[in-house]
Amino acid sequence: MNKLLRGLNIYLIGMMGSGKSTVGKFLAHKLEYRFLDTDNTIEMLSQKTINKIFEEDGENAFRTLENQVLGEVSSYLHTVISTGGGIVLKKDNWAHLRDGMVIWLDVPVDVLVDRLKNDHTRPLLKDTDLTQKLRNILEERKSLYQQADITIYVTKKQSTEDIVAEIIQVIPTKIKPEFNPDLN
Ligand code: S3P
Repeated sequence: MNKLLRGLNIYLIGMMGSGKSTVGKFLAHKLEYRFLDTDNTIEMLSQKTINKIFEEDGENAFRTLENQVLGEVSSYLHTVISTGGGIVLKKDNWAHLRDGMVIWLDVPVDVLVDRLKNDHTRPLLKDTDLTQKLRNILEERKSLYQQADITIYVTKKQSTEDIVAEIIQVIPTKIKPEFNPDLN
């Protein structure tokens, strides 16, 4: 698999709570890739939590940072990159995402609600009807998430191992001929 990928980065996209970081870490381990998380990188560089950035500088400032960090991390190879749920919103981000293979973890809203109901780290989910808010966000972004190279539909029953096994099975079928020496 590693030979087939030739260092091509893997980007995980999807809603808050879709498991991008958990799946990403495990996938990186399996592929013997490095793992990076854009949110963590932003927090590390700015020395502020995502909540604080939204509070003090606003969402636009966060989106600018997110775009810069994506630009930086996309210059690596052999890396699985978990992204923030809103990375798909900026057209410019797609130029970076398209340099690698983009995987959407498509998780039903009721599962997201279950995972996020006690979470206080996501500024967009504060003081709001969680189910409705997640539905609205998904509605807004669905057509963007659908631009991924691979969609993994995640059910309640699947473990992280199951999801990663499915990803590893699908990747070879999606490698574009120019990346896949065996198909040339
Ligand atoms: C956001 C998702 C968050 C984080 C920020 C905004 C979004 O990341 O980037 O709170 O717009 O969906 P996760 O998807 O890792 O929760």
